[in-house]
Amino acid sequence: MKICILYESKYGNGKKCVEYLKKLMEEKGNDVKSFSIRKIKPDSLPKADFYIFSSPTHIGSIPWKMKRFLKKLNLEQKTKYSLMATYLGPKTKAIQKMDEILQRKGMLKISDVKIRVNGMKGPLEDGYEEKLKKFAEKIT
Ligand SMILES: Cc1cc2nc3c(=O)[nH]c(=O)nc-3n(C[C@H](O)[C@H](O)[C@H](O)COP(=O)(O)O)c2cc1C
Repeated sequence: MKICILYESKYGNGKKCVEYLKKLMEEKGNDVKSFSIRKIKPDSLPKADFYIFSSPTHIGSIPWKMKRFLKKLNLEQKTKYSLMATYLGPKTKAIQKMDEILQRKGMLKISDVKIRVNGMKGPLEDGYEEKLKKFAEKIT
């Protein structure tokens, strides 16, 4: 399966999750590409069977860069996607916000995962690898 991961990550925690997830999925024989949303335009994404969007929580929601990127996306209706978010406090609405934008485009959500960080700049919670393994199993 062709999988495309789009992520934003200010301090690198989300990026670390994306790299780990990419490795897991490649081990299962998938063709996985990942891009920082700072380095790719929303209208020039490679064609894929499945998209994964990953964002940190900023002020309860997602950073404006991610919001703008998702709003400008122009993927076909029924395109399948999953969501990943890193967060510090339990009230994060990052997943809901991303989902809200993509649902409006008629895209199809498959799953999501939230990974906690132990401080603003990390590190990632213990056991994040296990969470990502389960997340990957639901996709491939
Ligand atoms: C400007 C800013 C606002 C933030 N606001 C929240 C917040 O409201 N809730 C929360 O859980 N984490 C908040 N955080 C912490 C981020 O969730 C954390 O830095 C991020 O998940 C780390 O991932 P990254 O290394 O990929 O950027 C905030 C971080 C920044 C920089």
